[in-house]
Amino acid sequence: MALRITVIGTGYLGATHAACMAELGFEVLGMDVDPEKITALSAGRVPMYEPGLSELLLKHVVGHEGSTGRLRFTTSPEEVAEFGDVHFICVNTPQRKGEFAADMTYVDAALDALAPHLRRPALVVGKSTVPVGSASRLAERLAALAPAGEGAELAWNPEFLREGYAVGDTLHPDRLVVGVRSEHAERLLREVYATPIAEGVPFVVTDFPTAELVKTAANSFLATKISFINAMAEVCESAGADVVQLSQALAHDARIGGKFLNAGLGFGGGCLPKDIRAFMARAGELGADQALTFLREVDSINMRRRSRMVELAREQCGGGFLGRRVAVLGASFKPNSDDIRDSPALNVAGQIQLQGAQVTVYDPKAVDNARKMFPSLAYADSAMEAVEGAHVVLHLTEWQEFRELDPVAVGAVVAERRLVDGRNVLDGARWRAAGWTYRAMGRPV
Ligand code: UGA
Repeated sequence: MALRITVIGTGYLGATHAACMAELGFEVLGMDVDPEKITALSAGRVPMYEPGLSELLLKHVVGHEGSTGRLRFTTSPEEVAEFGDVHFICVNTPQRKGEFAADMTYVDAALDALAPHLRRPALVVGKSTVPVGSASRLAERLAALAPAGEGAELAWNPEFLREGYAVGDTLHPDRLVVGVRSEHAERLLREVYATPIAEGVPFVVTDFPTAELVKTAANSFLATKISFINAMAEVCESAGADVVQLSQALAHDARIGGKFLNAGLGFGGGCLPKDIRAFMARAGELGADQALTFLREVDSINMRRRSRMVELAREQCGGGFLGRRVAVLGASFKPNSDDIRDSPALNVAGQIQLQGAQVTVYDPKAVDNARKMFPSLAYADSAMEAVEGAHVVLHLTEWQEFRELDPVAVGAVVAERRLVDGRNVLDGARWRAAGWTYRAMGRPV
């Protein structure tokens, strides 16, 4: 009989994983403690912007015309325990307030809610990003709480999906990593991922701590790559060199590669910033803090980008923000997402407003979220509305829509034609040809 899958936690990761498991042909039950989320998902509504996810839900959620009916949602851990053979824990691990360490409250709560109901053999699979050592601790807890005893086993299977590409990344992963303690657990996970594996995806079988570390190491490497090129951008600015050309030239070396080598305003979001901090905190607990001191530098280079953007904006405003109107294009932490967690764009917008500017923000998808979190900023319904009367336009999140703006049309409604490109992707020559002062980060004036 085919395995039955459950997914605990239905945020970006969980909702996507549940829908993709149904797409692979499994019967799936998703669970969340938030009844509003469950109602929305059951109606095929995704509580965030994630391209392709809503369509996938509607294709599989029970009760929708023409759906496969393979996917259901619940708030009941008892139901989950009764239903599933493989339970994926997909809850988030945010940064603890006032500390660098990861907050494990939701992972612990998910296990504590599920385990006491596990009466029959089951594999509990952690997918959340956790401090190394968590899986061993959770395995002990599972053994202590589950009535099934040794029949209830733990495995670790970190997730590498990117927001905005969550469905594609889940259905076509570039690798699958599983941390297991038995052949049985490995066999079950091979069965779950039989389809992508059949398509030639590398399947790495390892122990718990290595599986946990693959995820934190991967995100740390990506963050380091971004901060490396942003450090080069600082040097380029001082030397009169061009970081975009530098990055392109570096990318020709296949050992370096061009991905995650775009200089600009730096990284944000719910993963990279908090993951490198949690990693440093965990290394400290393990007595290996020296190994990761470079991540402190990675973090501070990244935060310096935001201050640099404020400086560039101030310069373009003639040395001060008082009485100046600033248009901010972009609020999400990256394009194709409505996620504003640790958004560099909103951080800059907030700083500039505090320094006296009148700031109007526009984003294709994230305005509602931004308004809730930063109610004192002004928001526009379109890019053209945001730029009206602006003394400077800041391009802070690289949505495709902003690349398509017509410099002549925008130039007709602003107070002054001044643009700072925080993502180095706009066509500077085109803007300059339309009479704009175009300023980028790490590029010659
Ligand atoms: C990141 C990782 O890329 C995923 O592999 C991982 O699974 C995920 O975290 C997670 O831990 O859950 P995500 O946070 O969705 O994914 O965003 P990224 O696409 O990695 O972008 C992160 C930030 O880096 C964005 O603010 C982006 O604008 C910035 N970035 C990216 C740059 O500034 N320069 C670049 O060259 C690339």
